[in-house]
Amino acid sequence: MADIARKQIVLGVTGGIAAYKAAEVTRELLRHGIDVQVVMTEAARGLVTPATFQALSGKPVFTDMWDPRVPDNMGHIELSRGKDAIIVAPASADFIAKLANGLADDLLSTLCLARECPLIVAPAMNRQMWDNPATRRNIERLLRDGVAILGPASGDQACGEFGMGRMLEAQAIAPAITTFFAPKLLRGVRVLITAGPTFEPIDTVRGITNRSSGKMGYAIARAALDAGAKVTLISGPVSLAAPAGAETTRVETTAQMFEAVKRNASRADIYIGVAAVADYRVDNPRRHKIKKTDRNQLSLRLVPNPDILAWMAARPRPPLCVGFAAESRNVDAHADEKRRRKKVHLMVANLAQEAIGADDNEVTLLDNRGKHRLERAPKDVVARQLIAHIAKLYGSRTKRKP
Ligand code: PMT
Repeated sequence: MADIARKQIVLGVTGGIAAYKAAEVTRELLRHGIDVQVVMTEAARGLVTPATFQALSGKPVFTDMWDPRVPDNMGHIELSRGKDAIIVAPASADFIAKLANGLADDLLSTLCLARECPLIVAPAMNRQMWDNPATRRNIERLLRDGVAILGPASGDQACGEFGMGRMLEAQAIAPAITTFFAPKLLRGVRVLITAGPTFEPIDTVRGITNRSSGKMGYAIARAALDAGAKVTLISGPVSLAAPAGAETTRVETTAQMFEAVKRNASRADIYIGVAAVADYRVDNPRRHKIKKTDRNQLSLRLVPNPDILAWMAARPRPPLCVGFAAESRNVDAHADEKRRRKKVHLMVANLAQEAIGADDNEVTLLDNRGKHRLERAPKDVVARQLIAHIAKLYGSRTKRKP
């Protein structure tokens, strides 16, 4: 599996107040399974200590061109050899100027000049420095040289001013890096995904729902986007931000989710039903709030909802259909029974009580070739592995080369 988890990068930290944010960038990249070698400039060392990065990355931090720990004293070449990218975050105005002009007067700038791998830069500086024509020129030159620029963002600045120049947050930098690395296994493929719970009203204020947070479905949407797919996401009520680049429709009830899926069905090459869809809805939900009465009991009549996944799989020319099964026991057996009954190509089994609402997940993939277990990992990581598996199934179905 072409996996981001095997990627190795050099993280260059230069002298800006945002240097403290590089610690969070290190943590986020490691969380995605990326191996991080930190290199700091002297100015960065005045703001954050190498010990912080050493503790986080579990590796010695390099700062000096003539560090005797590097074989042959060739740090400027050795440290970036075999790496998949150099990421400079934060990149100060001064460091950007050096890069744009090909200067190499310290370890990090020399590494950048001597690199064979891509260079990604996350600028961080005061808004006037960012707006200065010299910085604009330098950034344009870097772009022309094929350097990827992440950010900056606008907002409060350390100097007390407000404007453009803040370094992007680690939570934005890490996904951008994983997108950069993700193999484009589904380039141009149209993927329709449902995520989150559905909500079935009882009256105007109450309803029946479940604990699905949407995290798994949204992670799959992001992984599919990273793999180059065109993603349509139909989401039940969740508090997550829509994945950038996905066409997202928000719904509440199963009927609304079904309608949205039907509208998009003929345009889907792959359908992934991650939503925890309510099997039943309340017959005749009340248009006004039900009043408490002296009666002890209140009965609700539930009627079955349509099965969206089974409907999709039964279409005359169905897309590749992937279902999810959250089971509380005999997980694989129940999931496989669902796969056969709903006639889907792949069923993803997970343990309901550990998967729902959690940040990580452990799943078993069941298809007609057998079982394949994915170890417990953050949902983003599981999602990427799942997308790689789906791309293989899709490739063998369409004889498409990834
Ligand atoms: O959202 P999170 O908090 O991240 O949690 C993720 C998850 C646990 C909800 C997810 O990983 C998961 O397992 N989703 C499926 C939940 C489930 O148990 O579905 P099910 O067994 O009821 O249905 C099986 C499949 O049929 C699912 O793909 C479901 O979307 C689909 N279905 C079910 C009923 C129905 N009326 N229509 C459907 O399409």
